[in-house]
Amino acid sequence: MSGQKIYHLNIGREQLEGAQIALIPGDPDRVAKIATHLSESRPLGRHREYFSHIGKVNGKSVVVCSTGIGGPSTAICVEELAMLGVKTFVRIGTTGAIQPHIPIGSVVVTQASVRLDGTSGHYLPSEFPAVGDFGVTQALVNASNELGFPPFVGITASSDTFYPGQERYERVASHLLPQWIGSAERWKRFGVLNYEMESASLFAVCTALGVKAGCVLSVIANRTKSEHVKRDAVEETEAKAIHVAVRAVAALVNQ
Ligand code: URA
Repeated sequence: MSGQKIYHLNIGREQLEGAQIALIPGDPDRVAKIATHLSESRPLGRHREYFSHIGKVNGKSVVVCSTGIGGPSTAICVEELAMLGVKTFVRIGTTGAIQPHIPIGSVVVTQASVRLDGTSGHYLPSEFPAVGDFGVTQALVNASNELGFPPFVGITASSDTFYPGQERYERVASHLLPQWIGSAERWKRFGVLNYEMESASLFAVCTALGVKAGCVLSVIANRTKSEHVKRDAVEETEAKAIHVAVRAVAALVNQ
């Protein structure tokens, strides 16, 4: 693919300067914020939901690229970055906690995900779990502890939808399919920590491609109290997850 740009991300292999690690937020607007934590950072490409920067951590090239929301766009991002040589993916996202003891403003590190998505089924049989890489997950947990944000570590329910799949009723159509009614309480009883929308797909794609993934999330809602996201908590909370991910990457690039 020398000189060519890969279709969706609109970037080429040379631009990645040998980067083997990617920081992958969902939101394109988070890319430039994350890149401020890298040295020599600059923008690469922009196309649809995919915005990328390149920079360095401990002297090693690291790419930052948004995935957009949900499994299908995440899978495209990971497939294309892997084609360009990336071998480790660290997702930085936001989440709604479903356990009462997980406050807004805290950090969750996802160990494995309940597969409430469609994309993971395109990569793995339904019996196969969506699991993060142990080493990447451990690096995120260590980084979070070192920064003074002891993380909640465990299982995330990863849903294709923000509304029905996360059992939200405050919408135009308040009825839900039977499979979603009472589902938040069921996941809670099984000890699931939180809802988000990309980790199951990310873990499945990475398992199928033979590359590594981890996931750190900032808590911006607590579903045991309200369906709503606390908008004024987003910036500060998301900054924590960014710090954790960059510190973890600093440890991973030296391995
Ligand atoms: N992201 C989600 O998927 N759900 C929430 O409640 C908050 C962020």
